[in-house]
Amino acid sequence: MDLTSSVGNKLVQGDELGYDRAKEVKEFDETKAGVKGLVDSGVTKVPRFLIHPPESLPNPMLSPATTHFQVPVIDIQGFEQSCRRMEIVDQIRKASETWGFFQMINHGVPLSAMDKMLEAVQQFHEQPKEEKIKWYSRDLKQPVKYYSNMNLLVSKEASWRDSISFDFKYGPLNLVALPLACRESVSEYWKHMIELSKTLKELLSEALGLSTDYLANIECMKPELFLCHYYPACPEPDLTLGTKKHSDPSSLTILLQDNIGGLQVLHQDNWVNVPPVHGALVVNIGDLLQLITNDKFRSVEHRVPAGRIGPRISAACFLNPSPARKLGPIKEFLSDSNPPIYRETHISEYAAHYTSKEGNSALSHFKLL
Ligand code: OGA
Ligand code: NI
Repeated sequence: MDLTSSVGNKLVQGDELGYDRAKEVKEFDETKAGVKGLVDSGVTKVPRFLIHPPESLPNPMLSPATTHFQVPVIDIQGFEQSCRRMEIVDQIRKASETWGFFQMINHGVPLSAMDKMLEAVQQFHEQPKEEKIKWYSRDLKQPVKYYSNMNLLVSKEASWRDSISFDFKYGPLNLVALPLACRESVSEYWKHMIELSKTLKELLSEALGLSTDYLANIECMKPELFLCHYYPACPEPDLTLGTKKHSDPSSLTILLQDNIGGLQVLHQDNWVNVPPVHGALVVNIGDLLQLITNDKFRSVEHRVPAGRIGPRISAACFLNPSPARKLGPIKEFLSDSNPPIYRETHISEYAAHYTSKEGNSALSHFKLL
């Protein structure tokens, strides 16, 4: 069913198709119970405001099961030793240039911290509703919040997931400002993200042929936003999506996914599964690293279909540039034969433009003609 079909150039809104979309969305938002609340109340049909048009839904003919591609898995054990390091850096360079994605193993983040993190996200979402709704908010200035679909009130269709986010933009979070269910796990896991981001900054700098401290010096990869998703089991997974196709508006994303699977990445026009590997972290290049590297490293589109099996849990750590820094293609890369592709911008300008594009690539807006 297509809810927002185009007639001429005019977008037909839900209410013209026989239902008051704004009203349904508002009622859903006011429950503060998220998609999980729908499932708990026993829905067997996906409500209309969560149904995506057919062109956005996975095409069964192009199922990832039919492709032979495999997302690279990179073992970074021994990266401090110079001969291992050269190999690792080379693998990271190739993966970042061709896939924009890789899975990383032996990265030093303890398995227990990863498992506890996933459990805590589940516990947060599965605690009594009265406790959880205290955190329900869409206020961007609120550093810790729980919500279903940040852009629920403005987007054409909502996705089958709830989220809790932790914003470290304003500095470290006060422990007591974290929900009890995830207080310890988040602070422990975040310490590891800070450590791992230092390693990744070095390895990516070298993969770009730059000095080891280059990316750290330009302050373009700071762990800043932690977004934890809860994808409930869906009764009609062919009608909606867990996360629709998008690229990340970060420099780099470090994603922890549980063992259910579902993340898919677009590679050479094929959707390829990123299979769960216990202990692995998924790393992907974001739009801003593509901009800074003048398209050497690629920010690649990915999505999560809705699934009959759930809940699926994931936790994404977004590394972002400092708001004080101008962002533009790295001067060392530029020459007459490699002119800048993008104009300079700031994270705030980029983020504003990204939001207005609803997940579609915002990079083209910053291209020099
Ligand atoms: C994201 C994202 C994937 C996942 O939050 O940007 O792509 O597996 N998440 O939840
Ligand atoms: Ni993403």
